[in-house]
Amino acid sequence: MMRQVREQRAVTCWRSSIVNLAFLKLLIVTVFLFKEKTSFQASASTFESDVTALNMISRGWQAVNLGWSGNDPCGSSWRGVTCDKRTSTKVTQLSLSAVGLNGRLLPSISNLVNLQLLDLSFNPNLTGPIPETIGNMINLKLSLNLQGCSFSGPIPPSLGNLTNLGFLALNGNKLTGGIPYSLGGLRAVYWFDLSENLLSGSLPVSSASPNNIGLDNITTAVHFHLYSNNLSGPIPKEICSLPNLIHLLLDDNQLSGFIPAEISNLSKLLILRLDNNNFEGGVPSSINEISSLTELHLSNNNLNGSLPDLSSLHQLMLLRLSANMFTPEAVPTWILNLTDLQTIEMDHDNLIGAIPPSLFNLPYLEAVSFQSNRINGSLQFNQVTSSLTEVSLENNSITDVVFFNNNVFNISLGGNPVCSDNRYHLSSVVCFASGQQSWFPQPTLCEITCADSTTLNPQTCACAFALLILFQFNAPSFSDFNLTRVNSLETQLEAHFGLSSKQVVVGSANFTDDHKLVANVLIFPAGSNVQTQVSNIISQLSLQNVSLPDFGPFLVTPLSGLPTATKNSSSLGLGPIVGICIGVAVVFFVLLAIGIYAFRQKRRADKAEAISKPFASWGAGSKDSGSAPNLKGARWFPYTELKKATNNFSDSNQIGAGGYGKVYKGILLTGEVVAIKRAEGGSLQGATEFKNEIELLSRVHHRNLVGLIGFCYEQGEQMLVYEYMSNGTIREHIFSKDSSEDFHWRRRLEIALGSAKGLSYLHELANPPIIHRDVKSANILLDDKLVAKVADFGLSKLVDDGKAHVSTQVKGTMGYLDPEYYMTQQLTDKSDVYSFGVVLLELVTARQPIEKGKYIVREVRTALDKGGFQALRALLDPSLRFYPNRDMESYINLALRCLEETASKRPSMGEVAIELEILLANVSSTGFTGSNAHGRTNDQVEDTINLKNSSEAGDPSFHYSGGFLVPTAIEPK
Ligand SMILES: *[C@@H]1O[C@H](CO)[C@@H](O)[C@H](O)[C@H]1NC(C)=O
Ligand SMILES: *[C@@H]1O[C@H](CO)[C@@H](O)[C@H](O)[C@H]1NC(C)=O
Ligand SMILES: *[C@@H]1O[C@H](CO)[C@@H](O)[C@H](O)[C@H]1NC(C)=O
Repeated sequence: MMRQVREQRAVTCWRSSIVNLAFLKLLIVTVFLFKEKTSFQASASTFESDVTALNMISRGWQAVNLGWSGNDPCGSSWRGVTCDKRTSTKVTQLSLSAVGLNGRLLPSISNLVNLQLLDLSFNPNLTGPIPETIGNMINLKLSLNLQGCSFSGPIPPSLGNLTNLGFLALNGNKLTGGIPYSLGGLRAVYWFDLSENLLSGSLPVSSASPNNIGLDNITTAVHFHLYSNNLSGPIPKEICSLPNLIHLLLDDNQLSGFIPAEISNLSKLLILRLDNNNFEGGVPSSINEISSLTELHLSNNNLNGSLPDLSSLHQLMLLRLSANMFTPEAVPTWILNLTDLQTIEMDHDNLIGAIPPSLFNLPYLEAVSFQSNRINGSLQFNQVTSSLTEVSLENNSITDVVFFNNNVFNISLGGNPVCSDNRYHLSSVVCFASGQQSWFPQPTLCEITCADSTTLNPQTCACAFALLILFQFNAPSFSDFNLTRVNSLETQLEAHFGLSSKQVVVGSANFTDDHKLVANVLIFPAGSNVQTQVSNIISQLSLQNVSLPDFGPFLVTPLSGLPTATKNSSSLGLGPIVGICIGVAVVFFVLLAIGIYAFRQKRRADKAEAISKPFASWGAGSKDSGSAPNLKGARWFPYTELKKATNNFSDSNQIGAGGYGKVYKGILLTGEVVAIKRAEGGSLQGATEFKNEIELLSRVHHRNLVGLIGFCYEQGEQMLVYEYMSNGTIREHIFSKDSSEDFHWRRRLEIALGSAKGLSYLHELANPPIIHRDVKSANILLDDKLVAKVADFGLSKLVDDGKAHVSTQVKGTMGYLDPEYYMTQQLTDKSDVYSFGVVLLELVTARQPIEKGKYIVREVRTALDKGGFQALRALLDPSLRFYPNRDMESYINLALRCLEETASKRPSMGEVAIELEILLANVSSTGFTGSNAHGRTNDQVEDTINLKNSSEAGDPSFHYSGGFLVPTAIEPK
């Protein structure tokens, strides 16, 4: 059955390839005839008018030396200019992609009447309107590529006169206004891209047009990209009559109304993105007839009715239906028949009932997300496909889960009853973390420093000139950008540009919130004429001459390593390449489409191997680095990227400093804000130590631990890249003089609980367990949502054998140090518990551990011994005005148990977390926030609190167990 389908697919591909070959022949013949015909009329005057036109338009561009001097543009020195080869008297192509053009595109561009290709892409300082006269350039047929500039104003309606144009890319500008009806005149366009502009209004179709012309007349269109604009109104059914569409990308607009049933007329469609719009009504059942569909994105609309039946979409690899308003239903069983599925995302979709266990056994499944539904019952992971990496089931009603030994995927179950059910002992990884993506870069320790103009190639450990390009894949079908896919991207790009292995390196990558994948790719051209190669690469990428079938439609932005406009290296020869490539690309695309099947098969085979030895290249060129590091989700960053991110490590980016060096705030190319810790002088480590550290750090992933994002080890630098914690350390909050800050009881409890959970993860769930050794208020940070995260495992110690360690040197910070450890040098996890006890006291007293020679632990004990809780209140932070006395008493008792002299009498970190959780539950259950919300003083609210104190009132939801209150059923929040 499956084989039949695939064979059919191959046959279809062959058929269309024959059609396309015929088309190519036609194209070549046409070009040939055109040349024949025009060569007879070649005259000196045409030639002069082209020279004049070039000189005129260059006046619109300041400060770029294009070498346009003299009167022979067809000679070697006119950058970007290509002439008709036979006569050398007509300028036929102008290709100035990413050369730093500055200024405007002057209307005199249209005087280049012989131009067939105009490529001014990626010149971000090219501003102003697109001149109306562009509509006169009726010979433009290969390409009009203005993407990635800063053109503003409306799209000139005259553009519709370009009846021969094949490729139109105006994406990534600042164009405003509506899409002109007249664009329906683009009768030859196969690539139509207006995405990422500020376009508004409705989709113009012929039936609404006074001249009976609209987008539905572009019947040659294969790619229709209008995403990320402000388009509104419905999808007119006429759009569905475009017979050749394979990609219809309308996501991220304000489109509304019903999805027309006629959508099924798009019988060749591979990718349909309608997500992030305001579509309403039911999903038309006819969608099930688009059997070619590989990706269907309908998330974030107002669709209602029952879930669509998609049982016939056997090619579907990705299905996203999240956040609509479907009627409550069970997970549809037809999903089990879609055996090509890689990604299923149905969050917030009112799903009820249990998940069929065989779902997880779909052969190519990678990611399943059913967050925030009403899924209940028991989860059984006995049959799980080996490709599965991510299962997100947060906020459902799952009461029972059974794992098996071979389960290696990430799963998130936070907010399910099973997480608060004491019988299951689910780790906090399962119950709190929601890891999005994990992919394994190829880190290399290269002991080499590169000159400024070159970049380290981490795969060869050599310095070379590099081009850095940001790829944005708009609709990847997969959810796991793993090493196999990284390699596949690298290999495909190398093959396309005729580069050898290791000349293309993927630096870092991540998924955006709207499920696009952004990746930084370094390309190291070799040999002579590097500049020409770079222009060629950018031009081909921007003209979409590179087909990356497994990655779907993409957009590129060159970031650095661009040819400098002042160097007059010859760029002649680029034009013909581009011209040929347009034709070749058609064939190439078809051939690659045929190759998809083979490629996918191979990829699946490769995957197993890649997982078994993901870091074969670690340590190339260095002797002391040992075996490859075993990293989980940490990325390698090129030095140049971090340098750029921190504004060349400028002082204004510095956010901290210590013995180890400095910490900088940085903004990565992807927009992600990070904290970069740059080691200096004595804190630089050997390769092995550094490797050990990043291995340790990359292994811990928890909501309450500051996450390691990546590292850099090159040019004599050792840097660690962490999540950026915008709200600083809790020490700063405790001692803040800012009285406006609402640092109330509830917040302090949340911070204590968060840090306790983080530490208990290190002690009890990290494998092998980790002792932090430097727990203190300056090492607990708050993120933008005030979630507490434990940081700085600089002194951490792995606990791989037994429990206790005898260390030769006691480490830690004065005031927090466990006296037993200090005296016996026996290090256990209970040393962290002691330090945490000090932090607990700090949180409510706002006193330093040792202040004016007084030790906070002794002060609290003495006060309690002398005058009980009343005496203790004098020590509490005066700005903490509202708290339930009874809870505060429990809290202080808990802190003092952490501070027991004898380690064995202290509770474990997990037990501490449970007690704090109960205190916090009291706050929630009484509606008591600790802030002055009710305008009452602490004493006034005390009675209410006491009455509702669950342990006193014999509340059945708690039972007494071994000295600690243990919840048997806390309702998920
Ligand atoms: C664009 O202009 C800005 C300011 O005028 C300048 O700083 C920047 O370097 C220019 N960029 C390019 C690519 O020429
Ligand atoms: C555009 O398409 C519509 C619908 O097929 C047709 O009626 C109309 O004549 C076309 N317009 C032009 C100018 O070809
Ligand atoms: C799934 O496929 C089987 C066999 O082809 C068929 O009998 C069954 O009806 C299908 N189920 C659904 C829900 O389409």
